[in-house]
Amino acid sequence: MACKMDILLANGARMPALGFGTWRASDEEVEKALNEALIAGYRHIDTAPVYLNEKMIGKVLKQWLEAGKLTREELFIVTKLPPHGTRACSVEKFLKRSLADLQMEYVDLYLIHVPFTVPEVDGPFLMNEDKEIVLETTTDHIALWKAMEKVREDGLARNIGLSNFNQRQIQRIIDNCQIKPANLQIENHIYLQQPELVKFCKSNGISVTAYSPLGSKGIETLLNREVPNLLENPVVKEIANKLRKSVAQVLLRHLLQRGISTIPKSTNAKRVRENIDLFDFKIEDSDMALLDALDQNIRICDFGFFPGISKHPEFPF
Ligand code: A2P
Repeated sequence: MACKMDILLANGARMPALGFGTWRASDEEVEKALNEALIAGYRHIDTAPVYLNEKMIGKVLKQWLEAGKLTREELFIVTKLPPHGTRACSVEKFLKRSLADLQMEYVDLYLIHVPFTVPEVDGPFLMNEDKEIVLETTTDHIALWKAMEKVREDGLARNIGLSNFNQRQIQRIIDNCQIKPANLQIENHIYLQQPELVKFCKSNGISVTAYSPLGSKGIETLLNREVPNLLENPVVKEIANKLRKSVAQVLLRHLLQRGISTIPKSTNAKRVRENIDLFDFKIEDSDMALLDALDQNIRICDFGFFPGISKHPEFPF
């Protein structure tokens, strides 16, 4: 079933509310899963250079476009400026590299992936003798955003936005910009609903996209700690049973009904289809309130896989 809900961006562009997430999916997995996702009706695809799969995503999309099964206008492609590119002079270079890998003339949305910077090197990020990541502490959000505005004016990105920025950092960009961010992509799910940040964005015309909507099962190996399992929550299970829907579908629908777009990732064909089959039911207000009440301010993706990153002056959390 195709996605039947759009989010209106500030410049009038439409973004399908349900997108396909691709973090932690290898080339082989992405090739198969993206084909399944396009068949299932996904048109909003989220990627990033640090996911190391832009080339494969580009290859699959090109096959669909060349076969005439899709037009570029039907797609909504999101990618991001990587942490080693978070400086004004790097924006155009990294965006052009992503465009070459994706085999596209433009992306629909270009996000600054993180508000902090690490040095640009060939290969993995630099580590110091304390086994902490080497930081570049001269990050200048105002200059950086100007460079983002420039790639938008040049037509390389139809919309520009932020990811993992906090309210203070976003406000500073709003106070100093020509073009407001169109979107903020943040971790958001029943245990980390961030109602104040979401309200702040809405009141400033900034759409919000939730990553890790299902709790990013499997991320614990990367973080080296336990993380809560959203899919086992008894309140969500009960609502899912009542609606004859899966727990994952209730978690995703809860976000959509809060006016938040979301990008669940799956490399399993059945779950890829299940995650977009969200448009023939509604969670009633009393159940929405029960789900809202599950918020516990538990952040799963705290960048613990970048040891020492919290020492950066622009670390957002
Ligand atoms: P898989 O790829 O095997 O389906 P998030 O989008 O929150 O980061 O979560 C992604 C994780 O959740 C992946 O490990 C994915 O595993 C799993 N997942 C995705 N969709 C579902 C679903 N409908 N039911 C259960 N687990 C899911």
